[in-house]
Amino acid sequence: LKVYVPRDAGALALGADKVAAEIAREAEARGLDIRLIRNGSRGLFFLEPMVEVVTEDGRLAYGPVAPEDVASLFDAGFLTGGDHPLAQGETEKIPFLARQTRLTFARCGIIDPLDPADYEAHGGLKGLRHAVMMAPEEIVETMIASGLRGRGGAGFPTGIKWKTVAEAKGEQKYIVCNADEGDSGTYSDRMIMEGDPFMLIEGMVIAGLATGATRGYVYTRSEYPHAIATMRDAIAIARRHGFLGPDILGSGHAFDMEIRMGAGAYVCGEETSLLNSLEGKRGVVRAKPPLPAHEGFLGRPTVVNNVISLATVPAILDHGPEFFRDFGVGHSHGTIPIQIAGNVKNGGLFEIAFGLTLHELVDEIGGGTRSGRPVKAVQVGGPLGAYFPRALFDTIFDYEAYTAKSGLIGHAGIVVFDDTVDMLKQARFAMEFCAIESCGKCTPCRIGSVRGVEVADKIAAGEDPEAQIALMTDLCQTMRFGSLCALGGFTPFPVLSAIEHFPDDFHPARFAEAAE
Ligand code: NAI
Ligand code: SF4
Repeated sequence: LKVYVPRDAGALALGADKVAAEIAREAEARGLDIRLIRNGSRGLFFLEPMVEVVTEDGRLAYGPVAPEDVASLFDAGFLTGGDHPLAQGETEKIPFLARQTRLTFARCGIIDPLDPADYEAHGGLKGLRHAVMMAPEEIVETMIASGLRGRGGAGFPTGIKWKTVAEAKGEQKYIVCNADEGDSGTYSDRMIMEGDPFMLIEGMVIAGLATGATRGYVYTRSEYPHAIATMRDAIAIARRHGFLGPDILGSGHAFDMEIRMGAGAYVCGEETSLLNSLEGKRGVVRAKPPLPAHEGFLGRPTVVNNVISLATVPAILDHGPEFFRDFGVGHSHGTIPIQIAGNVKNGGLFEIAFGLTLHELVDEIGGGTRSGRPVKAVQVGGPLGAYFPRALFDTIFDYEAYTAKSGLIGHAGIVVFDDTVDMLKQARFAMEFCAIESCGKCTPCRIGSVRGVEVADKIAAGEDPEAQIALMTDLCQTMRFGSLCALGGFTPFPVLSAIEHFPDDFHPARFAEAAE
């Protein structure tokens, strides 16, 4: 009798450990022999802790389970699919999951994350087995043909980046995985590291084979202790099973890696700042050029890719580039793991081909707000992403469609707000966030963000709002075009979108009313 209780940090935060302990205790008390497996999360956070059992009818889900529900679950015979108010039926048929196309998250929440046999039984290592038989140029060409674009935010073609590193001169080259997931409402990197870590390792090894790099680093933040522990264990297991180390799957190729922890500065998600931090220096942004692909970690040619980009590689090598490329729209190929968060009824990880509208994501899949109030705004792409009003809910999930509307997909996190949100406060928050997280290297960001907070305060105080809004707009232009990196350069997006789409929250009449 197999019982799955997630070990994902999201599920743990909702009490999964207590539920697991209670299930073990109750089974023992009842003399039942169960096998408790701690899987990753399926990403249905509105049902976490979600317990699954394996029955003749497939895997059945129960959730959200609290420790005090456990006895009644046993009474109802849940181990063999007994009915219970928390029963969700067959997991794969839960509408939130059934509507998805899972390529990258195909195994997440299904397997035991640290069991290599389970990994292989579910298609693991197939991509790497293909890759070891291929010439490095062939792997690079496959990646270019797949159309995969960097999932960290910038959307640069992964295959082209690998080609640059493959062709760069250097005795030692590196693969650096950017796992410094700092965008508000995002957790896909963490879910992969906790729920399917071998896939990330496999993707990094393939990147090494393609570019000639023999060493890799996963750079993540101290706020991710469970992901760090799981990755450490997974790396040790991968070495023991021969898909990491001096002789990858008997191919004669070497690749090894380790996990490094940063202190959790948002700017360390910017690739050059990350490299500085990885080298033990302060996380200050470097000017580009030189690109990391030419002079990266320790001045050597380095691939810096996000977790999701690397985790998608094994599936591409396994199924072929055309299979992946055929999903999506326009120049946005493949699937994208969208993270639905904020004030939303059904929050969770939703992987699907590019092309879904915001309306579908927020109203249909997300089920509207958790508060039951109308949706007022959705911020897409993290703290540097634009706020979208309902009028723009027909925007499809596609890099170019968002750029055309002065927004960005970023790391594909969307945060939903109901009609109680004050967009002036949100604009102030964007500037304050930038002021706190700025690395301080360039003036428009370091000083501009502090001035931005002051201007927002003046608008809120009703101090000649029209002139202050003009000043804020001007300041945003300076930051947009004068900043060295995306932190200062993109902070204007949330600010300007708030001013443009929600003028009532900035309107002088509002302050006149407040004064009366
Ligand atoms: P970028 O556009 O300068 O470069 C993208 C990536 O491609 C980098 O890794 C760069 O090194 C690489 N690259 C560019 N040309 C290359 C070439 N010829 N050969 C090999 N590699 C090459 O982007 P950057 O500075 O990393 O970040 C800016 C972008 O990231 C923004 O456009 C924004 O969309 C996104 N971003 C989003 C954030 C968010 O909040 N979601 C946060 C930070 C950035
Ligand atoms: Fe540093 Fe901000 Fe300039 Fe980026 S924009 S280099 S974070 S000061």
